[in-house]
Formats: sequence, C-alpha cells, structure tokens
Amino acid sequence: MTDETTEPAADAPRREPEEELLGALPAPPADWDNPLRDPRDRRLPRVAGPSGLVIFGVTGDLSRKKLMPAVYDLANRGLLPPGFSLLGFARRDWEDQDFAEVVHDAVKEHARTPFREEVWQQLAEGMRFVPGDFDDDQAFEQLRKAVDELDASRGTSGNYAFYLSVPPKFFPKVVQQLKKHGLADGPQGSWRRAVIEKPFGHDLRSAQDLNEIVHGVFDPEQVFRIDHYLGKETVQNILALRFANQMFEPIWNRSFVDHVQITMAEDIGIGGRAGYYDGIGAARDVIQNHLLQLMALTAMEEPASFDAASLLTEKLKVFRAVRLPDDLGLHTVRGQYEGAWQGGAKVCGYLEEDGIDASSKTDTYAAIKLGVNNRRWAGVPFYLRTGKRLGRRVTEIAVVFQRAPHSPDDGLRVRRVVHRVQP
Ligand SMILES: NC(=O)c1ccc[n+]([C@@H]2O[C@H](COP(=O)([O-])OP(=O)(O)OC[C@H]3O[C@@H](n4cnc5c(N)ncnc54)[C@H](OP(=O)(O)O)[C@@H]3O)[C@@H](O)[C@H]2O)c1
Repeated sequence: MTDETTEPAADAPRREPEEELLGALPAPPADWDNPLRDPRDRRLPRVAGPSGLVIFGVTGDLSRKKLMPAVYDLANRGLLPPGFSLLGFARRDWEDQDFAEVVHDAVKEHARTPFREEVWQQLAEGMRFVPGDFDDDQAFEQLRKAVDELDASRGTSGNYAFYLSVPPKFFPKVVQQLKKHGLADGPQGSWRRAVIEKPFGHDLRSAQDLNEIVHGVFDPEQVFRIDHYLGKETVQNILALRFANQMFEPIWNRSFVDHVQITMAEDIGIGGRAGYYDGIGAARDVIQNHLLQLMALTAMEEPASFDAASLLTEKLKVFRAVRLPDDLGLHTVRGQYEGAWQGGAKVCGYLEEDGIDASSKTDTYAAIKLGVNNRRWAGVPFYLRTGKRLGRRVTEIAVVFQRAPHSPDDGLRVRRVVHRVQP
C-alpha cells in the first residue's frame, strides 16, 4: 500500500523506485541519505555488521538469478559492511577469478539496481570459490581455512551465514559437514547462521527428521528456513491492511465473511526444471509453504508486536486450529496440465515436458478446502489453490463477504476485498 501522495500515475511505466532516483549519482553513502533508498521507506537503514556469506550450490539457478544479484543490490544500497566476503561452494573446477566473472554476469543480468563499477570492485575483492563435493572432507577443510583467512584479511569477525541453495536431499549432509569441520561454531562472540531452502522435507516425518538433524547442530535462533514470499512487501502489507486501521477488523470474522480464496496461479509450465519439480508437485511446492503462510497472515489475531516471536506465536495458533477434513478426497483436487494453445503458441502437456516420465502422477494443480476451528472463523471455508499453465499469472487473497440481506439490483454482486500479492 502506498499513501496517495506518492502513488504514480496509472499509465506511468513500472520502474524500480531506485531507477527513478538514480541518474548519474555518486557512490551511495551508507546512511539515511542514501539516494538508492526508496523515499517511501521510512525505516532507519540497517547496515549489516562485519560478516560474510557462504553459498553452497552457488552455480545453481537460484543463486544465479536471485542470491548473487540480491547480494550486489545490498552492496549497491550501502547496506553491506566494507569487508563483506562472499564464498561460493560447488563442484566446478573454478578459481576465485572464474567465480567472480560468473557473479559479475549474474549481477549484470538480474540485479535490480544499476551496475556501478566501484561498488562491484569492492565486492569482488572479497569473493572466494571453494571447489568440492558435499562428501569431500578436504573441501570443507579448505572452506574453513578460507573463512579464517577472510577473518584475518577482511575483518569479517567470524560472523558467517551458510546458505544451503542445494538440492534438498543434501541439506542433512551439508549441515553435518559444517559441524564436523568446526564451521558451525565461530570464535567467541561471533555468530554462525544456516539458511535452508525449500522444500523442508517431503512429508511430516521427513521434515521432523531434518529438523532433528539441523537442531543437532544449530540452535533454533541460528536457523532461517527461507520462504521468499514472506519477504515480499505486498505480503507484509497484509498486516498493515488488517491492523493499521479500524476499518477491517470489526468485519474480519465469521459474522461477515462468507469464505476466503487464496490463489497462486502461474501461466507458465515447469520450464527446464523437471528434475526439481517431478515428484514434488504443486501442493508441496506452493501450498504447504507460501499459501499456508498467506492463510496464517489472513486468519491470525493481532500479534503483540511485529517481531518474529510474536508473529510466530499467532501463526501457530492458526495452524493449531486447522483441522484436516476426514473425507480429504472430497475437499482436495489435484490435476496436471495438458497440451493446448496459450497466447497464440502451442504448449505441451506436463507429461510431454522434457525430463518427465510419461506415467508421472505429480500434481501441477492442487486445491484444498480448510477450516479454522476457532471463534473468529468457525464455519468459514478457506480455499487454497495453485497451479501452472493457468489462464493468467496472479497471486491474491480474496476475502469474500456474505451477501447483503437486500439489494436494489440483482446485478450488484461485488462483495470481495482482494489483496493482490503479485504481479
Ligand atoms: N531455482 C529456483 O527458482 C528456486 C526457487 C525456490 C527454491 N529453490 C530451492 O533452492 C535450492 C537450489 O535450487 P536450484 O534451482 O538453484 O538448484 P540447481 O540449479 O540444481 O543447483 C544445485 C546446486 O547444487 C550444487 N550441487 C549439487 N550436487 C552437489 C554435490 N554433490 N556437491 C556439491 N555441490 C553440489 C550444484 O553445483 P555443481 O553442479 O555446479 O557442482 C549447483 O550449484 C533447492 O533447494 C531448491 O528447491 C529454488
């Protein structure tokens, strides 16, 4: 949500806020006056203290398209400490220089802020690459030495986050290797953190097993299970919409709401990601993480504050009140897309996609009807649905209110408040 004074004209081209501000600006100061800041963002900037980041799986798709560009954007906004160091780990036989070139290309292609040579040079000085397999003890020893060396040469003070951007089957192995090689514990007074990608297990049992392994090495506060959706401003704005005013709260309950629809629809197919997607499918890829998070933010009570612990407390109360229906088959739908025409082009069905077994049962569409058994929501269905190759790309939460008891015109049917998350 924006206040009306800063809303761009409806026909203005969509641009990143910093693009509008930039022009030919000098190097950004790391403070409140940083011209790369969105002027609507009134929070005080939080520049990270001395630290470094190790990305496992740094040659992969996520790292190239999202992680490395995001690191650069932070540097460009002056939010990284001067000695920040970035270490990559993967199996390629690369030198530091090869790695820096790959990061350079990824940044140029995918970063959101403009490329600035001086920012890049400073970032590149702190880049290191460690080649190796996750089974390779020697590689992890080399990684430990690289971290020690960067501590000494760039003042990272032992503070490191380990980002596991790797196929999920390797999460346990990497965490155990970090422990074995003394990387999970830094020097006195420093911090170590683990960032774990999705999916976190493929069912309840495997998620619990993984949790046990992770918490055998790291304390809960050291572990960050990433849900990229939660970082979206539009998702965080659900809280502002609900709790920053007096308007919606009085009607946000079973007395006024008929049902809630939470939808994440994609118009694309699986692209080149057969290896990742097959065997996982829509419900595991989207419902159990993104859509349940959106549901919790929609259904929860007001938290005592917006800190992580208070939000978690209220979200958990929602999930504990959700009961799966006994007749699950009647309350769920699963499907696969078939070949058809889309936007004037012929597109193939899921079973014809490259790398997909013709007998695959993986769902590319999944929907479920859930209830929240508490005083606010009893009897109000929450419909969660997601799919690929649908009519358009949209993520939204539609709170559908009950019909008015009387309407002067049968054609008046608008009774939804829709919170658009994306585009
Ligand atoms: N891609 C996305 O948009 C996306 C979105 C949300 C979540 N995720 C999650 O992010 C994680 C990474 O996804 P991705 O798409 O980037 O995967 P990916 O393209 O398959 O990359 C996997 C990475 O892991 C490395 N790797 C694999 N096996 C290894 C081994 N035995 N030893 C050392 N390195 C190994 C690969 O390095 P080399 O092959 O070069 O050695 C590569 O860098 C996954 O957990 C995925 O579920 C991805």
